[in-house]
Amino acid sequence: MALTNIGPVENFPVGKGVRVEVGGKTIAVFNTTGQYYAIDDMCPHRGASFADGPMQGTTVTCPLHGATAEVRTGACSPPSPSDVETYDVSCDSTSLFVDMD
Ligand code: FES
Repeated sequence: MALTNIGPVENFPVGKGVRVEVGGKTIAVFNTTGQYYAIDDMCPHRGASFADGPMQGTTVTCPLHGATAEVRTGACSPPSPSDVETYDVSCDSTSLFVDMD
C-alpha cells in the first residue's frame, strides 16, 4: 500500500471535485460531507474532467454530455462506455492521502 499525500484537507471543499496529479495519473477527489472518494478524472466517453462536473450526493455528472459516475464505486452511466477506477482516500487531522495501488 503506497499512500501519497495529496494536500491539506482545506483544499477539498464539500460538494466539489478537485483534480490531482498523482503517480502519473489524474484523479478527481470528492468530499461528500466529510467522506472522501477518488476516481479517475477522465470520463471514458470523450475525456472530459469529472472534477469539473456538478455533484449531487455521491454522484458526479460529466460536464460534457451528462454521464454520471458514482464516486464510491466508479460505476458510470451512458454515454460512458465503461466504469472508472476508484482509489482509497484517507485523512489525518491535516492532510489527505490516496492509495494508488
Ligand atoms: S465526455 Fe463525459 S459524457 Fe461525454
